[in-house]
Amino acid sequence: MSEKPIYLDYAATTPLDPEVADAMWPWLTGEGSYGNPSSIHHYGRMARTAVDNARDEVAALLHADYSEITFTGSGTEADNLALIGTMRAAQPGKRHLIVSAIEHHAVLHSAMLLEREGYDVTLISPNREGLISVDSVQEAMRDETSLVSIMHANNEIGTIQNIQSLAQMVHSHGALFHTDAVQTAPLMDIDVKTLECDLISICAHKMYGPRGVGALWIRPGTKVAPIIVGGAQEREKRAGTENVAAIVGFGKAATLTLQHREQDGVRISCLRDMLLGLLSEGIPDLQLNGHPSMRLANNLNVSVPGIEGATLLMNLDMRGVCVSSGAACSSGSLEPSHVLKAIGLSDSLASAGVRFSLGRQTTEEEVREAASIFHEIVERLRH
Ligand SMILES: Cc1ncc(COP(=O)(O)O)c(C=O)c1O
Repeated sequence: MSEKPIYLDYAATTPLDPEVADAMWPWLTGEGSYGNPSSIHHYGRMARTAVDNARDEVAALLHADYSEITFTGSGTEADNLALIGTMRAAQPGKRHLIVSAIEHHAVLHSAMLLEREGYDVTLISPNREGLISVDSVQEAMRDETSLVSIMHANNEIGTIQNIQSLAQMVHSHGALFHTDAVQTAPLMDIDVKTLECDLISICAHKMYGPRGVGALWIRPGTKVAPIIVGGAQEREKRAGTENVAAIVGFGKAATLTLQHREQDGVRISCLRDMLLGLLSEGIPDLQLNGHPSMRLANNLNVSVPGIEGATLLMNLDMRGVCVSSGAACSSGSLEPSHVLKAIGLSDSLASAGVRFSLGRQTTEEEVREAASIFHEIVERLRH
């Protein structure tokens, strides 16, 4: 076993880039400044400038204008704000919301909360590969539909949706479109002009930035009611003193993502394909979950029939390989993944799902070692 465990869980979170840490440091130690960005004195103005520069950098990642970025405390909060804030700001009578069944819980649980408040929610099922068809969403559209939320790429199975076509159809019915791009922003170009959404959620810690900071891109003119109140920060869309260090780190991570993304994508997808090849060689009945080609460059989700994903995960961990079974955020629970169930897997195959997610630091040697350890564990558990 390598001295250091092999980390193959980049979809859960990524290590902080040292350049990001350097950018954040002055805002943590007070060497640079410790002002409250709302204060009008020298230190306050310095902090305000730092936040606004970061806003520029995050906007550049999305080809957007800095005024369209609202910082939040996480990707989860960006999703909450997109759904709850938009539905609460909608015109009377526009109380219908559509979401896909494979959304992250940040979206699904927001939809459930709205349902308890009396809104109507429709869940759209994907096909076996995790794709949401334009037709299935179109059939669910009503005159009262205010918002449709479909994620750009799924965090468990990596399937990438055709967001532009979905958004165009939704707009033709006069409704708004939100996409959760938390997993795609680190790996794919996201251009607010071509994606044609009204709201886009992203966060820093999937792109080698700090945990605990996210952002919601809001198309100018879109009405969103704040869900956190008590201050005028973020143009009255998100109250609370800004986490300056985290926001500065997010800005730096966004700039570095723009520099590395293309190269990362090519290298990581080659390693991912190699991992799939190696795993399938020794385990002929290994099943790939998700779409074979329309999937995130770093994502590999597989099931080994007859072996629980949680059992594999624990055995891999004991041998120094860190992966995930189901979404990291809900891995405390042993319920089969809602995503694998939604694409039609039986309870037993859904419980067998294991997600490998690769990143900037993943090496070929690590991939080979992880595959060989995986084979040994499967062999042992089957005999
Ligand atoms: C698709 C997706 N949306 C939202 C989130 C939540 O982001 P955060 O961890 O910043 O709250 C995650 C995190 O796993 C995610 O993968």
